[in-house]
Amino acid sequence: MHRDIERILLSEEEISRAVERVARQVTRDFVGQEFTVVSVLKGSCVFTADLIRQIPIPLALAFAEVQSYGAGTTSGTMRTRLMPRDEEIQDRRVLLVDDILDSGRTLDFMKSELVAQGAKSVSSCVFLDKPARRLERFEADYRCFEVEDVFVVGYGLDFAGHYRNLPYVGALRPSVLEGASPSMGEVSP
Ligand code: XMP
Repeated sequence: MHRDIERILLSEEEISRAVERVARQVTRDFVGQEFTVVSVLKGSCVFTADLIRQIPIPLALAFAEVQSYGAGTTSGTMRTRLMPRDEEIQDRRVLLVDDILDSGRTLDFMKSELVAQGAKSVSSCVFLDKPARRLERFEADYRCFEVEDVFVVGYGLDFAGHYRNLPYVGALRPSVLEGASPSMGEVSP
């Protein structure tokens, strides 16, 4: 385990089973329809890559990037830096994929942007759901796990740009969250 991780919340095996389950639900609901998966960068890149490879029906893939003012572990005011092209969205069903649904601001904002861009419908799929922190009235249509209110990293989720490449989801040690710089090494596999 990485030395900055206090405990593992979700193992690689648990993640893989949950991704397969959600992929089956998406496949069942979207079969026979033109749809675009919109992956919200950067956090959902790992989840999206695993998810779409378990969906054996035609789909288009696009990316969006949302920036929120205000650093740290909470999200502030939103603006997009990158959005899919109009033809990737207009008159199509969209499956919006994100790493974590926390306050709900990111997905609520993204959904409105995609509807304004002409999407026929926008469904949402999240790897993690932290309902305890919700500020917007927003629920995901698909989710892999509900998690407690702790800051988590790994499987695409970062803290200060680090830990996205961990294959599991873990809680950071409080000392790291409080500002000590992330250590770069793995202590054991
Ligand atoms: P909102 O609040 O907009 O949150 O629903 C979505 C974004 O907040 C970040 N976030 C986290 N990132 N570990 C992280 O690495 C967490 O526990 C966490 N909680 C929220 C994340 O960028 C996500 O896209």
